Amino acid sequence: MSQPIIQVSHLSKTFGAGDGAVHALQDISLSVEQGEIYGIIGLSGAGKSTLVRCLNLLERPTEGSVVVDGKEMTQLSEKELRLARRNVTMIFQSFNLLMQRTCLKNICFPMEISGVPRAKAEQRAKELLGIVGLADKAEAYPAQLSGGQKQRIAIARALATDPKVLLCDEATSALDPTTTASILSLLKELNHKLGVTVVVITHQMSVIEEICTRVAILDGGRIAEEGKVEDIFANPATDAARRLVYPGGVVPQLMDPKARVIRIAFNGGTSYHPLIASLAIDCGVKANILGADTRNIDGKAYGTMLLGLPEDENEAAKALAYIRSQHNVTVEEVGDHG
Ligand SMILES: Nc1ncnc2c1ncn2[C@@H]1O[C@H](COP(=O)(O)OP(=O)(O)O)[C@@H](O)[C@H]1O
Ligand SMILES: [Mg+2]
Repeated sequence: MSQPIIQVSHLSKTFGAGDGAVHALQDISLSVEQGEIYGIIGLSGAGKSTLVRCLNLLERPTEGSVVVDGKEMTQLSEKELRLARRNVTMIFQSFNLLMQRTCLKNICFPMEISGVPRAKAEQRAKELLGIVGLADKAEAYPAQLSGGQKQRIAIARALATDPKVLLCDEATSALDPTTTASILSLLKELNHKLGVTVVVITHQMSVIEEICTRVAILDGGRIAEEGKVEDIFANPATDAARRLVYPGGVVPQLMDPKARVIRIAFNGGTSYHPLIASLAIDCGVKANILGADTRNIDGKAYGTMLLGLPEDENEAAKALAYIRSQHNVTVEEVGDHG
């Protein structure tokens, strides 16, 4: 196994001191493999932004170690850090574009700072505009762009120094669902094409589900759970994970310990209404919707639903087989039915 591109060990961050001290992060350890899309999820105030800022040392950890691409970030001088940060760039919820500069000049900015000759920088910026699908916006100003377009420019700027790691702090939180989907698919494409490792910070489970392979759940400054997205979704072990995974906060085994419950994820199939309807009509099975967090984007269903299966074994098996046969739907049994 190759060395992880990011290795955080026993990281803590305390703001202030004495009675007023805020322990924003406590004993965080995690690793991110080269080329993966890694998610960090948690409610507001959980410490996500602090953690991501510790990854590029915009925030200095109080304790612990942060190794990125083989470098112990906490040991670098200011000058070395400035160089290292070209390798670990960031995008934000608020885009942070320079409003007085054209899109092209925004993308040139980090290259200017690192001393790339102007003609070369502009050529690279044009390439990057093409990569993010906005080749025609070189001379436009940020104010003339939609939110999604602004984030594409910010992504192009973040890629200007050919980073190995792209940190995304709530990058889609200010965007509508359709635009969110398009930005997430761009991040996925960049990850595939350029091999850039992506760390996605979000409070939305749907974002994790859409693009991440592994996820850490941050709760009150600590990691509550960490692992493969599908494992955590199938069997959330902690309260923090259950609050995020079960739509509407429904915890099925608390309602009925014997209930056989499945969690269905809709990945862009035409709609979810026909599934439940046809389950009743085609199979004669009545399933109970326990909770749902589903949305329609361009007439396609995304999101998750918890379904209680009939108690009868045959009926339940029939329903499961039927749902599994559907396109763009993944099904997992959840909880412990011992
Ligand atoms: N510069 C700071 N000074 C003092 N407290 C801070 C500072 N930055 C963050 N915090 C505190 O640290 C905790 C985590 O904040 P943050 O990392 O922004 O959470 P999140 O991004 O998950 O919403 C919060 O209690 C916040 O008030
Ligand atoms: Mg934040």
